[in-house]
Amino acid sequence: MAYSIKKTITEKSAVGEVDFDNLSMGKRYTDHMFVADYENGEWKNLRIEPLAPIATHPATMALHYGQAIFEGMKATIGKDGKAVIFRPEQNAKRFNLSAQRIGMPTVSEDLFVQALKEFVAIENEWVPKAEGSALYLRPFMYADEHFIGMRAATNYKFIIIASPAGKYFSKPIKLYAETKYVRAVNGGTGEAKVAGNYAAAILPTELAKKKGYDQVLWLDPHNFEYVQEAGTMNIFFKIAGKFITPDLNGSILAGITRLSCIELLRDKGYEVEERPISISEIMEASENGTLEEAFGAGTAVGIALVSEIGYKDKTIKFPAENPVATDVNNTMNAIKMGTAEDKFGWMVAAE
Ligand code: COI
Repeated sequence: MAYSIKKTITEKSAVGEVDFDNLSMGKRYTDHMFVADYENGEWKNLRIEPLAPIATHPATMALHYGQAIFEGMKATIGKDGKAVIFRPEQNAKRFNLSAQRIGMPTVSEDLFVQALKEFVAIENEWVPKAEGSALYLRPFMYADEHFIGMRAATNYKFIIIASPAGKYFSKPIKLYAETKYVRAVNGGTGEAKVAGNYAAAILPTELAKKKGYDQVLWLDPHNFEYVQEAGTMNIFFKIAGKFITPDLNGSILAGITRLSCIELLRDKGYEVEERPISISEIMEASENGTLEEAFGAGTAVGIALVSEIGYKDKTIKFPAENPVATDVNNTMNAIKMGTAEDKFGWMVAAE
């Protein structure tokens, strides 16, 4: 179904002020935003309008009870100079899974994808052209009702904003295996992209940074033994020729970069196991010389090579070479830039 989205275009674009050679994610935003209001059981007032602050009533429910979800996605420039979006239908599905988990209304997948395509087409000039750079898209939804009783809200906003972004990490990262704080428990919200999951990660991440690490390696909440995720990414290990990534057990985000890495690795002839992997298994592989590579996979970060994991009083070091992870990263970037064939049909043209 096609939706009617009202467009109000800014008279003066700020794109000329952007230094595309020095982009850092989330500092600058494009000229416009997409906004829809949920009222009386339906999404209304679909519009793309100049980016502007939104007045917030102090009783806005999202501020009190955290009914807020988001997605992260990327648009790049294809060979014909037009923007393409990476697997938006996957984000649409996950957005709705997140919405349902915290009692929010869903958005039809058609509306989600159409809004993105029309929004990105308007912001075409904002899409960076350098390899590894992209226009980071941030669809989000929050409870917009003014009420401080505790129940699901009746009013919501669904908004899309975008920020031109360069590389997230400029070098391989160090992970701190956390043995006090947890990210997610079974039955909780770990598999949803809920704002509160990220709030819970902020203190442990800041503490890990103070110790000289880049991100936290999250372990299971019962025994601090099984690996869950790495910071804001999914995690892969290569042990004795095989790739292993934690299985989606309900407390792990079903990353779209994770899924794409699994598909690319299998296509390149590697075996990939989705199964529980413990920190003891990783330590043992490190000690017996079978630990070959590790990388994080996420939308904002892309593929982040791991150089080290700190676990209790031990340090697990990874070989400096990560040839397969680097190859997967290059292939994924080439598909996004249109210089490699999109044989999986991942890229969707903006319109
Ligand atoms: C993403 O990779 O899109 C994320 O959601 C990470 C973000 C918190 C920086």
